[in-house]
Amino acid sequence: MANFATFCFLCLSLSMSYYLQAFHAMAHEWPAGGSTRFYDFKVQTLRVTKLCNTKEIVTINKKFPGPVVYAQEDDRIIVKVTNETPYNATIHWHGVRQKLSCWFDGPSYITQCPIQAGQTFTYEFTLVKQKGTFFWHAHVSWLRATVYGAIVVYPKTGVPYPFKHPYEEHIVILGEYWLKDVVQLEQQVLASGGAAPPADAFTINGHPGPNYNCSRNDVYKIDVVPGKTYMLRLINAALNMENFFAIAYHKLTVVEADAEYTKSFTTDRVMLGPGQTMNVLVTADQPIGKYSMAMGPYMSAKNVSFQNISAIAYFQYVGAAPNSLSLPANLPSFNDNLAVKTVMDGLRSLNPINVPKEIDASLFVTVGLNVNKCQSKTPQKNCQGTNNGTFAASTNNITFMKPTISILEAYYKKIDGQFTEDFPGAPLKFYDFVNGAPNNAPNNTQARNGTRTKVLEFGSRVQIIFQDTGTVTTENHPIHLHGYSFYVVGYGTGNFNPQTANFNLIDPPYMNTIGVPVGGWAVIRFVADNPGVWFMHCHLDIHQSWGLGAVLIVENGKGPLETLPHPPADLPRC
Ligand code: C2O
Repeated sequence: MANFATFCFLCLSLSMSYYLQAFHAMAHEWPAGGSTRFYDFKVQTLRVTKLCNTKEIVTINKKFPGPVVYAQEDDRIIVKVTNETPYNATIHWHGVRQKLSCWFDGPSYITQCPIQAGQTFTYEFTLVKQKGTFFWHAHVSWLRATVYGAIVVYPKTGVPYPFKHPYEEHIVILGEYWLKDVVQLEQQVLASGGAAPPADAFTINGHPGPNYNCSRNDVYKIDVVPGKTYMLRLINAALNMENFFAIAYHKLTVVEADAEYTKSFTTDRVMLGPGQTMNVLVTADQPIGKYSMAMGPYMSAKNVSFQNISAIAYFQYVGAAPNSLSLPANLPSFNDNLAVKTVMDGLRSLNPINVPKEIDASLFVTVGLNVNKCQSKTPQKNCQGTNNGTFAASTNNITFMKPTISILEAYYKKIDGQFTEDFPGAPLKFYDFVNGAPNNAPNNTQARNGTRTKVLEFGSRVQIIFQDTGTVTTENHPIHLHGYSFYVVGYGTGNFNPQTANFNLIDPPYMNTIGVPVGGWAVIRFVADNPGVWFMHCHLDIHQSWGLGAVLIVENGKGPLETLPHPPADLPRC
């Protein structure tokens, strides 16, 4: 039985990948309605030369970006992941709700132990009522810097898009590239107590483009036919940056955000935080030429150094002289908060929806950085944060510490000592969170360490108010919740005030990652109908490393499909 399954697995994944490659740009012929799709992921190192520098990066199947997972709504996905590197690995299927399949969600020490060198783990989940653009990425250390790829889920056969069918579709993944080993880099940054260094390059589908050293030919390009409309599946897989994206002289029409349709909204540029995806339509309606597609920084924090060179790809008309100069794209300046707000204001669910009006569990969660007192005997080495302290981050002033086995396993098997259930529903202290930032760090906050979870009853209607704090600096934080999408019912600047906050309960966007505005707040709502242990964290990895996260535990319900099944037999051990 085992042999047969292995054999079949190989043949299927081989034929499947050939079959699916052919679909890359042929959107009008969706994969036929097979219901289970197998993929074989080998975590492998690859020697690459970028920016005149050769190094080994960690990849899936020696591809960078990694292989695309194609599927249709309601398909079952089976991915066998074999770790052939010395690093710990896991894969998270970002945006996939993992209905009753929390064991396969992927965040290390939350739902599973890492897949160690030489080990295998097979992820199995169903894309229940989900379609659109997602992505997968490593969810351990900073491996995500190179271990990522798209997930494209088409509607069911015969179901059209709710907009004119594009002539072609292309995946556009924004990333950040480091010349250093990213696993070591995270450790060094944490040991220094200070900030993370900027990436050595931004990349579009792995390519930095002509603005960077030695990269004139390391550039991604889409050939376009004049008059045709293209759909770009934008994915921000950057590690520590939020990013603007624009195409020279072309408008972008947003039709989907975080794998949910939106009302069409036309704009000159978009902003995506890491973890966000967006489908945009672009019509090649300009004079024949070579146009830049550009990715630049959105940095809302003060005094943080960041990469400021745009990654460039080409949107090149058939008939344009190949060596012609590309027309420059007009990106907003790095701190253009208004440009970000404009994009957010434009995101509306396509159809009116049933937003929970009554709330059973309401949480107020501050998100921000902290400076802890130096505890080191070598402060110059280890306390490079503000005021010679060490940087940390927190939610409700609690710095999230990873346990030594996964919280899900500890919860399921009732193993003591790994986590507590006392994550507070509000900060201990309310003060002016944002004005006059940086606040007086030692007085306002000294973060406490903990692995605290908030337990939610099955079916409860949940509201979470996220409030940015300015202890070190105010900053836009892309907060991601695993296991759910949520309605973004409101957001604004300043301190959240229930008297003046305006909520959209008619057509709010349904997202999985929300950029909480710099020095502001955002409110989300969802129904806790998926039992499991779900990580909620800032998708800037440096903030996650510093502890900007918390865990929601959703209990089993009483009905038939309301209980989390047993763990899989091959679940990795720590
Ligand atoms: Cu895209 Cu917890 O991650």
